[in-house]
Amino acid sequence: MESHFIAVSDRVKLIKPSPTLAVNAKAKAMKAGGADVLNFSVGEPDSDTPLHVCLAGTQAIDAGFTRYTAVPGILELREAIVARMAADKGWQYDPEQIQVSCGGKHGLYNMAQALFNPGDEVLIPAPYWVSYPPIVQLTGAIPVLVPLLEKDDFDLDPGVLKKYVTSRTRAIILNSPSNPTGSIFSQSTLEVIAKMALERGWVIISDDIYNTIVYEGGSLPHILDIDPRLKEQTIVLNGVSKSFAMTGWRIGYSAGPKHIIAAMNKIQGQSTSNPSSISQKAALAAVSGPQDFSVEMTKAFLPRRDYIVKELLAIPGITCVVPKGAFYVFPNFSAYYGREVKGRRIGGSVDMSDYLLEEALLAVVPGAAFGADPFIRFSFATAMPVIEEGMKRLQQALARLV
Ligand SMILES: Cc1ncc(COP(=O)(O)O)c(C=O)c1O
Repeated sequence: MESHFIAVSDRVKLIKPSPTLAVNAKAKAMKAGGADVLNFSVGEPDSDTPLHVCLAGTQAIDAGFTRYTAVPGILELREAIVARMAADKGWQYDPEQIQVSCGGKHGLYNMAQALFNPGDEVLIPAPYWVSYPPIVQLTGAIPVLVPLLEKDDFDLDPGVLKKYVTSRTRAIILNSPSNPTGSIFSQSTLEVIAKMALERGWVIISDDIYNTIVYEGGSLPHILDIDPRLKEQTIVLNGVSKSFAMTGWRIGYSAGPKHIIAAMNKIQGQSTSNPSSISQKAALAAVSGPQDFSVEMTKAFLPRRDYIVKELLAIPGITCVVPKGAFYVFPNFSAYYGREVKGRRIGGSVDMSDYLLEEALLAVVPGAAFGADPFIRFSFATAMPVIEEGMKRLQQALARLV
């Protein structure tokens, strides 16, 4: 008898592989093959994890701290997260209101599985981080994309938001500073969202993963600071990946109402059991130790941001919002769409990214991956000489398009 072709689930057919991870993998493969690729596609700091954090990890191994832990994460770490949030933000949580997960992405996944029912509508401002729509779709809920406009510096226009609200709206995902735009939601925008959420009983998901990387000393408005009642309706997501250059350690955390965290713990307990015991000890050192790493990293990013923005704006036809936080810049390349070089037509952001990778050896992420085709995302978490050379190559590659 012949073997049978085994079909995959309908659920998985709804989603695509992460485009950012795909570009990064292609760039790395080309580099391994000897091509001098400059990588602007990576979503991680270029620094190493701080030494004291690494040592806490190796000490955990030496001490035999290598077994299963409590499902929501070790109590010491959850207490340290509570203390960190109180010290930095003045927010009061109990350790039972905290879940430690295998990265921030996994915290979002647990949250969505614990909260959403098929048919629920989840408002996602677009450009959005690539994983929000698939994480929502995997629950049967519906991502509703709310456009953010370049002319508003990618802040949310409450008038636009209202057009996307229905009786089925269940939640809104906020990411400020944002990946991919680097923009920050203004106090006045958050006030409108807060009012609507209170009136309509929405869940607010506040993805704060870039909240330590903010430029020019500006304060970072937060929805929880607008009305204390919102704490009962808000899940705050964060982690150590970006703030402590710990992307490979896979530690994120969520804070929210006890019953929601308990539901998320059920999901985690039946899927990953717990995040790595070793990584939890390292994260404990990060969260409870000195916080200057992030401050220094942000200081190092600032001249790179200023330089890349200046160079991009010097290219004819390109417009670019100055990022206020995170380490991405999201310029508008649409003036170059429809142009050609040697019979190759650049129809949109995917063609542009392919062209830049193949012909200029520049790895960037097409805006289409973030629901915004006019744009291309560049990460400036890379060394200054790389940025300088990258901008030269970009200018030359674009000048060839007619
Ligand atoms: C907006 C946003 N949220 C969450 C994450 C998740 O980070 P991690 O799972 O690496 O902790 C990322 C990572 O790129 C991100 O950009």
